[in-house]
Amino acid sequence: MRRRIVAGNWKMNGSKDLSEELVGYVRSEAGSLDNGVEVVIIPPAIYIGNVLDHARGVVSVGIQNVGQWQSGAYTGEVSPDMAKDAGCRYVLVGHSERRQIFGETDELVAEKVSLVVSSGLAAIVCVGETLEERESGQAESVVAGQVRAGLASVSQEKWHNIVVAYEPVWAIGTGKTATSDDAQAMHAAIRGVLKDMGAPAEEISLLYGGSVKADNAAALFSEPDIDGGLIGGASLVAKEFMRICRSFPAAT
Ligand code: PGA
Repeated sequence: MRRRIVAGNWKMNGSKDLSEELVGYVRSEAGSLDNGVEVVIIPPAIYIGNVLDHARGVVSVGIQNVGQWQSGAYTGEVSPDMAKDAGCRYVLVGHSERRQIFGETDELVAEKVSLVVSSGLAAIVCVGETLEERESGQAESVVAGQVRAGLASVSQEKWHNIVVAYEPVWAIGTGKTATSDDAQAMHAAIRGVLKDMGAPAEEISLLYGGSVKADNAAALFSEPDIDGGLIGGASLVAKEFMRICRSFPAAT
């Protein structure tokens, strides 16, 4: 059975106070989830220690980005080994904001993915098309290309450390969500590409992201190839985030 994951990406938001209040609440509620969801919080790097203090092993913690080196003279960068040492379990790689604002390419994503999995962390690799690409009928080929290129360096024994997040760029932070049908169709296509690459595709968790809220999560999570969500804005509101985590039916 694939892991069900709901991950909150705080982006450049949060504080020590939020780490205490929100993570404290999420921890107290996550312990009683009966649907097998792994709850992950991905705060700005500077608050990882604070979040870990309040997560107490009940909630997993991730980092939003890492450099493509393990150590050295790279002022301002944090490495996968450091994220692991600090207590992280997940690393977001290739979020569309990293690609669009910071110019990250598929090649850089592949380098980071390879380093992340060799550190023993799980990479949540983000892919997704722009509105223009969707409207011109290229969505599936763009996403397939990102999956193939970004995961090109994953060796057979490391696939269990890969999670893919499909996040259509036009749905991120806009209040527009892909329909459950469209999201399912893309997830099935991604699984097909993974299979084609020789990956154990049926075992890899695929998350949907882009304006997931408490009132649309259940429909998305009921789709057969959607194994969870990557949540931005709604992950900053404790009760809403937990409602999303509860949107999976009980584990059977
Ligand atoms: P959103 O962000 O939920 O605010 O749309 C999702 C993401 O960027 O991961």
